[in-house]
Amino acid sequence: MKAVKLEDKRPTWTSKYAFIITAIGSAVGLGNIWRFPYVMGQNGGAIFLAVYILIISTICFIPLINELYIGKLTKKECVGAYESINPKFKYLGVLNPITGVLISAFYFIVGGWIINYILKSLINNDVIDYGQYFSEFIQSPLYPCLLTVLFLFICVFITARGIKKGIEITNKILMPLLAIILLFLVIISINLPEANKGLEYMFKPDFSKLNSHMILAALGQAFFTLSIGMGALLTYGSYIKEDKNLVKSTYTIILSDTTFAILAGIMIFPAVFSFGMEPNSGAGLVFVTLPKIFSQIPCGNIIAFAFFILLFCAAVTSGISIVEGPCATLVERFKISRVKACSILFCIISLLAIPATLSFGILSDLTIFGQTIFDFLDFLTSNIMLPVNTLFLCLISGWYLKINGVNIINNKIFALLFDIGLKFAVPTALIALVYMGLK
Ligand code: PFF
Repeated sequence: MKAVKLEDKRPTWTSKYAFIITAIGSAVGLGNIWRFPYVMGQNGGAIFLAVYILIISTICFIPLINELYIGKLTKKECVGAYESINPKFKYLGVLNPITGVLISAFYFIVGGWIINYILKSLINNDVIDYGQYFSEFIQSPLYPCLLTVLFLFICVFITARGIKKGIEITNKILMPLLAIILLFLVIISINLPEANKGLEYMFKPDFSKLNSHMILAALGQAFFTLSIGMGALLTYGSYIKEDKNLVKSTYTIILSDTTFAILAGIMIFPAVFSFGMEPNSGAGLVFVTLPKIFSQIPCGNIIAFAFFILLFCAAVTSGISIVEGPCATLVERFKISRVKACSILFCIISLLAIPATLSFGILSDLTIFGQTIFDFLDFLTSNIMLPVNTLFLCLISGWYLKINGVNIINNKIFALLFDIGLKFAVPTALIALVYMGLK
């Protein structure tokens, strides 16, 4: 394996637990609670779940541990990490913080919607048509923009406070809270009448629904939910002081993330079936279908409040990891303070996020390759940039750096599988993902 240049003084996690909880915090986000249930709903339920579990526990393990390992090895932010492998790779590294900034522009919009629903659940006003309410809300010119900027400010503020006082503490508080609220809501949901229909939908596979499109949807979802491909985990990995068992840490992250996604499904689908709603209503599942259900159950406002707080916690812990990648790059490359770096990011992301927020309303006619700004940013980052960045990092590690599985994994057979996966299987899957995305 080639040698890499190491960095001197940088912040580190206070403990291994701090690293794991923040990495889980990055992974568990809107991808698990908002995106996973609706992608599963659109792709046949249980069979999607089976394919997803298979993919996330095998193929995704490789790029995930690879990203953490490169961070831990180089002890640098993304651009520096790529540069220390070969100065020419610096430009590939730059794609990571750029992806982070682009992802935040659409991720934080949904964060703003969540704040709106939290506030709404506090004010007991009756809505007749939730579909209409949601579309009127996202189309309005001012309010969603203000909420997007507010959500962005919260994430940037926490990131600016630093690794220990900001990111670590937030995750240590919000992640257990998230788990408690999720379990509370799961218990309520599985006790609803006819909840078993929802559980059947989640766990009884219909093999006739297996197809290549669904497999790629599961692959895309798995990469997105694990936060692979924009250097967030590389940056988190670079703050590791000591982790002798990166394999165990990686599996802990995968297992926790998958558990949260499955529990989110168990929370949502029994309720959806119990109230005779459609499981395949897409992105509106959480913002239209669920509020409709909450309005029909006793103490619905409290449950709605708990649910949107849950979403908020998940979105914040992921949001700060999205900001941390570009923030670390600005701090370490331009030798500026975190506060300055975060202020710059706040301005840049706002400039992108505001037009994207308005793309549901007054800017809906402004399209890029036939898509609104929001849809284009979602497509560009999730379908193209995350897989392309991951592809580059796998190729660099496997073919240039010639990382050996035995350096990371104790078991010889698994180490060999890792080598094959890193060089061949994962790049092939990623190319298929990008190809399908572009089709
Ligand atoms: N994993 C996050 C989620 O599931 O919502 C989204 C995300 C966070 C993607 C950080 C990429 C990233 F770097």
